[in-house]
Amino acid sequence: TATVVGIGSCLPDRVLDNDDVIARGSLDTSGTWIRSRTGIGRRRYVPPGVSTGDLAVAAGAAAMRSAGTAPDLVLLATTTPDHHCPATAPAVAHRLGLDGVPAFDLSAVCSGFVYGLVTATALVRAGACNTPLVIGAETYSAIIDPHDRETAPLFGDGAGAVVLRAGPPGAPGAVRAADLGSDGSGDQLIVIPDGGSRHPPLSCTGPADPYFRMRGRAVYAHAVRRMTDSARRVLQEAGWPASSVRAFIGHQANQRILDSVADRLGIDARHRYGNIGELGNTAAASIPLVLADDRVHASLEPGRRTLLTAFGGGLTWASAALTW
Ligand code: ACO
Repeated sequence: TATVVGIGSCLPDRVLDNDDVIARGSLDTSGTWIRSRTGIGRRRYVPPGVSTGDLAVAAGAAAMRSAGTAPDLVLLATTTPDHHCPATAPAVAHRLGLDGVPAFDLSAVCSGFVYGLVTATALVRAGACNTPLVIGAETYSAIIDPHDRETAPLFGDGAGAVVLRAGPPGAPGAVRAADLGSDGSGDQLIVIPDGGSRHPPLSCTGPADPYFRMRGRAVYAHAVRRMTDSARRVLQEAGWPASSVRAFIGHQANQRILDSVADRLGIDARHRYGNIGELGNTAAASIPLVLADDRVHASLEPGRRTLLTAFGGGLTWASAALTW
């Protein structure tokens, strides 16, 4: 299988607390509402001029240093690419000094990093590459409507990355089992309505809406059910009872969703890891940012059973079982 041999991350310096986001968009909400309904206290935003590609390069370079190896493929999971066309990954590969390697973007919204990890693992198993770099990078500050109280408080910017290499299933960092899925009947629940080929920017009747929109309540119910079911399938495939999981790392969309999923699975509170309070929902970057967190490293010994599970627009879901 493939094993994680390097981890890196990049966070912009600019911190906005809940009061800052409320003031920025004149939002009809309160810091108490945001904190109690989502668990979010702060998030990071890029300064003007900094893009997803810039964060991806910094996180990718850090992962390469930590792995001590030059990747032979770059997979960038993102919903906020630098441009609609071309993909951002080739420019990221070029800036990392990796000219000539295969490089592509993968769009599965908040499930993107785990989709990418599973895809890269399959490519390693198939012999199509040896040391892929998988990056989750986002700048949601560029696509959220600052005046929409249902989305503006939730999202933040950042990037996380891992380097994989072929290794035995019991090795530290080994991907043991995976589960991917989708339900496109819910494609309008999380959507940027205009600007794509369905509603091209110049042919929209009425004012175009280029912003990210989400029907939070419907998404919430899907998120709990889909992540719980997907996590159960992956645990079964790995042959791991939920009680043996020592690190539960779910997509950081809402603390109540994360607690609900972990409670249903029966994973003890002391084995749950996250960053939502500090970073909000960083979409495809959320899980690799938790993996890259020094506090997670400090408390997890090698060989520990780690469960990743994510849910996002599409609708999509993805889980993976790793031996830390
Ligand atoms: N402040 C005050 N009120 C608000 C706010 C706000 N910031 N946001 C929504 N409300 C209102 C709603 O309008 C609604 O009002 P109504 O009852 O008059 O219709 C009321 O609060 C309750 O709405 P709910 O959606 O039930 O509130 P909930 O407690 O569920 O919290 C939230 C809303 C935080 C958006 C939640 O639904 C959520 O986290 N949803 C899922 C997010 C998710 O899983 N995302 C993953 C994928 S994201 C991706 O793929 C990029």
